[in-house]
Amino acid sequence: MDDLLQLTEKQFLSGYTLNKWFWQDILAYMRGTIDDELSFQNALLKRTIHHRLMEKFPVKLPYRTMFLKTLINKMEESNIEVCDEIYEAYCQLLGESGNPEFNCQDKHFRHFILDRGYISLRESTSIVSEGTTGLHAWQASMALAEWCLQHQETILKNQRILELGSGIGLTGLACILGTAGHALKGNNPGNKAIKEIQPHEARLLGDQNFQLSGSSVCSPLAYTFSDCHPSVLQLLCGNVRQNLMEDIEGSQLYLENLVNGGTFLDTSYGRTKVRVVNLLWQDLEAGAKEAVEMVGQVDIVIAADVVYDHSLFKPLIGSLKTLATKCENGILTKVVLACTKRNPETLKEFMDCLTTYGLLAHEDKPVQPKYFLYDPDPSVGIYLISMQQCE
Ligand SMILES: C[S@@+](CC[C@H](N)C(=O)[O-])C[C@H]1O[C@@H](n2cnc3c(N)ncnc32)[C@H](O)[C@@H]1O
Repeated sequence: MDDLLQLTEKQFLSGYTLNKWFWQDILAYMRGTIDDELSFQNALLKRTIHHRLMEKFPVKLPYRTMFLKTLINKMEESNIEVCDEIYEAYCQLLGESGNPEFNCQDKHFRHFILDRGYISLRESTSIVSEGTTGLHAWQASMALAEWCLQHQETILKNQRILELGSGIGLTGLACILGTAGHALKGNNPGNKAIKEIQPHEARLLGDQNFQLSGSSVCSPLAYTFSDCHPSVLQLLCGNVRQNLMEDIEGSQLYLENLVNGGTFLDTSYGRTKVRVVNLLWQDLEAGAKEAVEMVGQVDIVIAADVVYDHSLFKPLIGSLKTLATKCENGILTKVVLACTKRNPETLKEFMDCLTTYGLLAHEDKPVQPKYFLYDPDPSVGIYLISMQQCE
């Protein structure tokens, strides 16, 4: 039962599309457990709709409503008695859907479960809003996070990483949180089971009794998130603060900083130095002094879902060229791009463009998802870009 509940929780919190096999498993379990059918239904509610994160950090309202509606329909069709708590929860969600205060919300949360806790991301309810695609976590950001975590010894450990077009920060938060070792310290009055409450979650919920001390496993030396859109940077800063820092107030401060450009957030998590910077590829391409200095020394450049618009190919590739020439002691900057294969022609055009700049892309072997759930279709290719040798 616990495996099924764990999977349900993981899918529900991340807003993953629940397929017919998922529902078949749930119904099969319910049919086979007549004796504790009701306790399973209550446990299901506790791991989803009534999850302890839902009050402060709710997933999308239509997703929650659809989840319960489908559950009720499928149980009724299968003649399984639906407990009162499920009907009550559904009525409450219908009430919220009819309430303009809830209905007009333009942001919601998604939570991604890692071994050591959750990554909780605030994102836009529309995939394109305010003229940008960056206010939503794309499938490629999960595929890149997955690939990085599965290659952490070589890609993350002790590296100084620059992420281009970070969007709302899923990849970077996974690289930082997924590799940091934690020890809980300080008091834990009431001895609320440490096993029950994960440290990140405790902090998200404002539990002051939990403190983290990061002890490194494969964590990067430095991780720099970057983007160029003001609303994206604001949301990104909020997500970084919420997941890595204790104080989650002050997003207004970041908006003010935006006017001057540059670094918005400069902190550390465990042994990883973490920054959020306003970085326009066009500036890096042109070798603008402020942009180059702000970026500093970089060992690895990563980016997810940045190959979709022809007009951005030149500045993006130009940025990679600039970064390649910044090698220290002749060590090449490695580049890893996660590209969603939506349109083969766009991808081919990008690869051709790379060649004209003297760069070469090699697609790496796909990894089996272990940490993240994302749609396999369209697939995401992980490309390693070979940079020119430094003079
Ligand atoms: C499709 S989103 C991908 C976001 C994130 N990497 C993900 O996969 O969820 C593309 C991101 O690239 C950023 N971007 C687009 N053009 C850019 C430019 N010229 N300079 C810097 N960032 C740019 C956008 O603001 C946006 O956040």
